[in-house]
Amino acid sequence: GNRTFTMIKPDAVENGHIGPILEKITSAGFKIIAMKYTQLSKRDAREFYAIHRERPFFDELVDFMTRGPIVSAILEKDNAVEDFRALIGATNPAEAAEGTIRKLYAKDIGENAIHGSDSDENAAIEGAFHFSGREIY
Ligand code: GTP
Ligand code: MG
Repeated sequence: GNRTFTMIKPDAVENGHIGPILEKITSAGFKIIAMKYTQLSKRDAREFYAIHRERPFFDELVDFMTRGPIVSAILEKDNAVEDFRALIGATNPAEAAEGTIRKLYAKDIGENAIHGSDSDENAAIEGAFHFSGREIY
Protein backbone atom coordinates (compact mmCIF):
# COMPACT_ATOMS: atom_id res chain seq x y z
CA GLY A 1 0.00 0.00 0.00
CA ASN A 2 1.11 3.58 -0.48
CA ARG A 3 -0.86 5.41 2.24
CA THR A 4 -0.82 5.61 6.02
CA PHE A 5 -2.61 7.69 8.62
CA THR A 6 -1.00 9.61 11.48
CA MET A 7 -1.89 11.81 14.45
CA ILE A 8 0.53 14.10 16.27
CA LYS A 9 -0.84 13.46 19.75
CA PRO A 10 -1.79 16.09 22.39
CA ASP A 11 1.52 15.79 24.31
CA ALA A 12 3.60 16.60 21.22
CA VAL A 13 1.33 19.51 20.28
CA GLU A 14 1.51 20.91 23.85
CA ASN A 15 5.29 20.64 23.83
CA GLY A 16 5.69 22.57 20.56
CA HIS A 17 6.82 19.61 18.46
CA ILE A 18 4.46 19.92 15.48
CA GLY A 19 7.05 21.64 13.26
CA PRO A 20 10.01 19.32 13.97
CA ILE A 21 7.81 16.22 13.61
CA LEU A 22 6.38 17.34 10.25
CA GLU A 23 9.94 18.10 9.12
CA LYS A 24 11.03 14.53 10.01
CA ILE A 25 8.02 13.10 8.18
CA THR A 26 8.52 15.05 4.95
CA SER A 27 12.32 14.59 5.04
CA ALA A 28 11.72 10.83 5.18
CA GLY A 29 9.91 11.02 1.85
CA PHE A 30 6.28 11.07 2.94
CA LYS A 31 3.95 13.38 1.03
CA ILE A 32 1.12 14.97 3.00
CA ILE A 33 -2.10 14.45 1.03
CA ALA A 34 -4.52 15.52 3.82
CA MET A 35 -3.94 17.37 7.10
CA LYS A 36 -5.90 19.13 9.85
CA TYR A 37 -5.47 20.68 13.30
CA THR A 38 -8.39 19.30 15.26
CA GLN A 39 -9.58 17.81 18.54
CA LEU A 40 -11.11 14.41 19.29
CA SER A 41 -14.31 14.17 21.34
CA LYS A 42 -14.49 11.36 23.91
CA ARG A 43 -16.81 9.55 21.54
CA ASP A 44 -14.34 9.94 18.65
CA ALA A 45 -11.46 8.62 20.76
CA ARG A 46 -13.44 5.65 22.06
CA GLU A 47 -14.42 4.75 18.50
CA PHE A 48 -10.96 5.32 17.04
CA TYR A 49 -9.34 3.12 19.72
CA ALA A 50 -12.26 0.63 20.04
CA ILE A 51 -9.85 -2.28 19.51
CA HIS A 52 -8.30 -1.41 22.91
CA ARG A 53 -11.58 -1.04 24.85
CA GLU A 54 -10.97 -4.07 27.08
CA ARG A 55 -7.43 -2.98 27.98
CA PRO A 56 -6.72 -1.59 31.47
CA PHE A 57 -5.33 1.64 30.00
CA PHE A 58 -8.37 2.41 27.79
CA ASP A 59 -9.85 5.25 29.90
CA GLU A 60 -6.40 6.77 30.36
CA LEU A 61 -5.84 6.58 26.59
CA VAL A 62 -9.18 8.28 25.86
CA ASP A 63 -8.50 11.05 28.43
CA PHE A 64 -5.03 11.61 26.99
CA MET A 65 -6.13 11.73 23.36
CA THR A 66 -8.91 14.24 24.15
CA ARG A 67 -7.07 16.62 26.47
CA GLY A 68 -5.94 18.96 23.72
CA PRO A 69 -5.61 19.46 19.99
CA ILE A 70 -3.96 17.01 17.61
CA VAL A 71 -2.73 17.14 14.03
CA SER A 72 -4.13 14.36 11.86
CA ALA A 73 -2.84 13.56 8.39
CA ILE A 74 -2.84 11.06 5.55
CA LEU A 75 0.62 10.35 4.15
CA GLU A 76 1.69 8.87 0.84
CA LYS A 77 4.88 6.89 0.12
CA ASP A 78 5.79 3.45 -1.22
CA ASN A 79 5.48 0.92 1.62
CA ALA A 80 3.90 3.69 3.74
CA VAL A 81 2.61 1.73 6.75
CA GLU A 82 5.82 -0.20 7.46
CA ASP A 83 8.18 2.69 6.69
CA PHE A 84 6.19 5.07 8.89
CA ARG A 85 6.13 2.62 11.83
CA ALA A 86 9.93 2.44 11.48
CA LEU A 87 10.18 6.25 11.46
CA ILE A 88 8.09 6.66 14.64
CA GLY A 89 9.71 3.81 16.60
CA ALA A 90 8.43 1.42 19.27
CA THR A 91 5.23 2.16 21.23
CA ASN A 92 7.33 2.55 24.39
CA PRO A 93 9.90 5.32 23.72
CA ALA A 94 12.31 3.63 26.14
CA GLU A 95 12.51 0.82 23.56
CA ALA A 96 12.46 3.06 20.47
CA ALA A 97 15.52 3.21 18.19
CA GLU A 98 17.77 6.30 18.18
CA GLY A 99 16.53 9.03 15.87
CA THR A 100 12.93 7.83 15.77
CA ILE A 101 10.15 10.33 16.47
CA ARG A 102 9.13 8.60 19.71
CA LYS A 103 12.73 8.39 20.92
CA LEU A 104 13.11 12.12 20.30
CA TYR A 105 9.74 13.45 21.44
CA ALA A 106 7.78 10.91 23.54
CA LYS A 107 7.72 10.67 27.33
CA ASP A 108 6.42 7.16 27.99
CA ILE A 109 4.27 4.32 26.63
CA GLY A 110 1.06 6.31 27.23
CA GLU A 111 2.15 9.78 26.11
CA ASN A 112 4.04 8.70 23.03
CA ALA A 113 3.78 11.72 20.72
CA ILE A 114 2.50 10.14 17.52
CA HIS A 115 0.25 7.50 15.98
CA GLY A 116 0.88 5.40 12.90
CA SER A 117 -1.54 2.91 11.34
CA ASP A 118 -0.56 -0.74 11.76
CA SER A 119 -1.91 -2.14 8.46
CA ASP A 120 -3.07 -0.98 5.03
CA GLU A 121 -6.63 -1.89 6.00
CA ASN A 122 -6.50 0.19 9.19
CA ALA A 123 -4.81 3.06 7.34
CA ALA A 124 -7.83 3.26 5.02
CA ILE A 125 -10.34 2.98 7.89
CA GLU A 126 -8.54 5.58 10.02
CA GLY A 127 -8.07 8.01 7.12
CA ALA A 128 -11.77 7.80 6.30
CA PHE A 129 -12.63 8.34 9.98
CA HIS A 130 -10.85 11.72 9.94
CA PHE A 131 -11.19 13.00 6.36
CA SER A 132 -13.88 13.28 3.73
CA GLY A 133 -12.99 12.58 0.12
CA ARG A 134 -12.72 16.26 -0.83
CA GLU A 135 -10.22 16.91 2.00
CA ILE A 136 -7.75 14.45 0.43
CA TYR A 137 -5.52 15.74 -2.35
P1 GTP B 1 -0.57 3.85 17.92
O1 GTP B 1 0.22 4.21 16.71
O2 GTP B 1 -0.98 5.06 18.74
O3 GTP B 1 -1.73 2.91 17.63
O4 GTP B 1 0.46 3.07 18.87
P2 GTP B 1 1.00 1.59 18.71
O5 GTP B 1 0.37 0.91 17.53
O6 GTP B 1 2.48 1.65 18.76
O7 GTP B 1 0.46 0.94 20.04
P3 GTP B 1 -0.96 0.24 20.35
O8 GTP B 1 -1.84 0.30 19.15
O9 GTP B 1 -0.68 -1.07 20.98
O10 GTP B 1 -1.54 1.20 21.49
C1 GTP B 1 -2.25 2.36 21.13
C2 GTP B 1 -1.89 3.47 22.09
O11 GTP B 1 -2.38 3.15 23.39
C3 GTP B 1 -0.40 3.70 22.30
O12 GTP B 1 0.19 4.47 21.28
C4 GTP B 1 -0.39 4.41 23.62
O13 GTP B 1 -0.74 5.79 23.46
C5 GTP B 1 -1.51 3.71 24.36
N1 GTP B 1 -0.97 2.61 25.17
C6 GTP B 1 -0.52 1.40 24.74
N2 GTP B 1 -0.09 0.67 25.77
C7 GTP B 1 -0.30 1.43 26.88
C8 GTP B 1 -0.06 1.23 28.27
O14 GTP B 1 0.44 0.20 28.70
N3 GTP B 1 -0.40 2.28 29.11
C9 GTP B 1 -0.96 3.43 28.65
N4 GTP B 1 -1.27 4.41 29.50
N5 GTP B 1 -1.18 3.66 27.35
C10 GTP B 1 -0.86 2.68 26.48
MG1 MG C 1 -1.70 0.88 17.15
